[in-house]
Amino acid sequence: MKPLLQLEGVGIHFGALKAVDDATLSVASGERVAILGPNGAGKTTLFNAITGLLPANRGIVRFDGADITRASPEARAARGIARTFQITNLFFGLSVEENLLLATRGLSPAKFSIWRTDRAAGNERNIVDAALSKCHLESRRDVLVREISYGEQRQLELAMSLTSSPKLLLLDEPAAGLSPAERVVMANVIRSLPRELSLVLIEHDIDLALGLVDRVICMYQGTVLVEGKPDEIRRDPRVQEIYLGKPRHA
Ligand SMILES: Nc1ncnc2c1ncn2[C@@H]1O[C@H](COP(=O)(O)OP(=O)(O)OP(=O)(O)O)[C@@H](O)[C@H]1O
Ligand SMILES: [Mg+2]
Repeated sequence: MKPLLQLEGVGIHFGALKAVDDATLSVASGERVAILGPNGAGKTTLFNAITGLLPANRGIVRFDGADITRASPEARAARGIARTFQITNLFFGLSVEENLLLATRGLSPAKFSIWRTDRAAGNERNIVDAALSKCHLESRRDVLVREISYGEQRQLELAMSLTSSPKLLLLDEPAAGLSPAERVVMANVIRSLPRELSLVLIEHDIDLALGLVDRVICMYQGTVLVEGKPDEIRRDPRVQEIYLGKPRHA
């Protein structure tokens, strides 16, 4: 598999704090990778370096053959990088479909004009329908976001990130705060995403994360501590000591 995303020696520093320090890693086309690590390990900051929300102070970020280290978040999104956030980010007074339309139109000159038509039309309809189906939300299309469950709201955020047809999807704790039943649904949604879509998943629920990915990167204090297949990570004594021994959501 050819590398889609490559980070070489990436650092993000806040004053004296090296939130991400000398991170070197790659994600292949179609690969699914989990990032584990305790609170403050630098996982979300690493995502920010990839999406451009916080450009790297050091190092190089390459995506799909291009050096994007200094590219704007918009330029990176246009190249095919999408993300979801650790915190829910939706319009609660609008329906599920309207939220998806906003996400879809965010890419076009008609940006944020949900008033243009009541319903999705043409290509927009196809994009919205595909995203609803991939995230198991077809039956919730016309329901206001404030009336769907929290688990469905997280599914909707995932659906919104798919409307740009990304090549790489970064998921920041998609199952945080979900009930055990909602976690199962979210895991199934993630598992059934198209195989050609590369995924990087930050998740504190180890069993959920390891069941979804091909490879795991464990971060600690801003650095990549260990990388390996899910089974190797489960057995690694360093991982057990710094992370598996102290599960956050236990
Ligand atoms: N904008 C910022 N300014 C200053 N310090 C920051 C900023 N963002 C993050 N940090 C610090 O950088 C470190 C890494 O934070 P980050 O949010 O990346 O951790 P994380 O691994 O995502 O943690 P969590 O599991 O709690 O989400 C932490 O010490 C955090 O306090
Ligand atoms: Mg985080």
